[in-house]
Amino acid sequence: MGKRIFSGIQPTGAVHIGNYVGAIKQWVDLQHKYESFFCIVDYHAITIPYDPSDMQQRIFDAVVDNIAAGLDPEIATIFIQSHVPEHTELTWLFNSITPMGWLGRMTQFKEKSEQFKESVNVGLYDYPVLQAADILLYKAQVVPVGEDQVQHVELTRDIARKFNVTFGDTFPDPEAILGAAPRIMGLNDPTRKMSKSIPGSYVSLSDSPDEIRQSVMRAVTDVGPTPGGEMSPGTANLFMLLREFSPPETVQRFQDDYDRGAIRYSDLKKVLAEDMVAALAPIREAREKLLQQPETVREVLRRGAEKARGIARETVREVKERMGLG
Ligand code: AMP
Ligand code: TRP
Repeated sequence: MGKRIFSGIQPTGAVHIGNYVGAIKQWVDLQHKYESFFCIVDYHAITIPYDPSDMQQRIFDAVVDNIAAGLDPEIATIFIQSHVPEHTELTWLFNSITPMGWLGRMTQFKEKSEQFKESVNVGLYDYPVLQAADILLYKAQVVPVGEDQVQHVELTRDIARKFNVTFGDTFPDPEAILGAAPRIMGLNDPTRKMSKSIPGSYVSLSDSPDEIRQSVMRAVTDVGPTPGGEMSPGTANLFMLLREFSPPETVQRFQDDYDRGAIRYSDLKKVLAEDMVAALAPIREAREKLLQQPETVREVLRRGAEKARGIARETVREVKERMGLG
């Protein structure tokens, strides 16, 4: 069997350029190399406060954005997590071998418990075990993600090893792989990660050219002095985006200006904004078209869930047998 990829994205808001350059662009490349599974993880998304009345719309939009960005449903399996109940079943089985201490150490749990103080629930704590189940149900070895997910993939590896040692060799060692821009910072606050939950921090794949221009022109470049004359986080972030969206000559030109102390940030932002508008235009067009074809999208998801479920069912059967459950 060739290697498999698994990755997921939460339907918690607009898909943004951090998701795109940090994760989706890699998925689009890798889908040609490996058997690929991409999942809209709605069970993960309900661990923080949300509005049930627009959840279906957000799930649909996330699927559309990913296909518009280049995921090809003819090659990759695209599906919704809650359509495959084995994800929660394997989570429960893994819960019984996962020490609580491993979960208490998760950075994202600590951050989200701080951010959503009023609603820290058991699901939020258990979130990484559900993620391990996502990956291991398909025995995926390759997990392309942004930097914030590396710790969760390491935990997945620990769970896989613990299972193998306890119940016999069953799972491969999954490995996180990062792209060239694994951590894009917020445009309005480059000390924090670009995030769907921070308004003003992101450019989304559905933004109009004018919205893109506005967000880029407003990007913060300097947030006070930096140690040892290093590039400030905002400037480093703009250069990272420039490397993703502009040709190498453009990056070099601004790098030279920066090195000579002659850089004009407003010029850099103008060029970056136009290159971003141009790069995102085909995605926006594809998105508009797909929005007119909800039936096609639903069919992709139906087929995706069916394919995923066939594999997931077999893994759960094997795991239960090894655990003495039938
Ligand atoms: P999420 O939106 O949290 O479900 O993330 C989906 C994927 O995008 C994951 O692989 C994340 O690591 C990645 N990602 C999210 N935010 C960023 C960011 N600011 N920079 C780079 N990658 C990101
Ligand atoms: N937790 C991931 C995020 O917030 C999303 C995710 C869920 C995921 N299951 C996954 C990513 C499995 C990779 C593999 O971005």
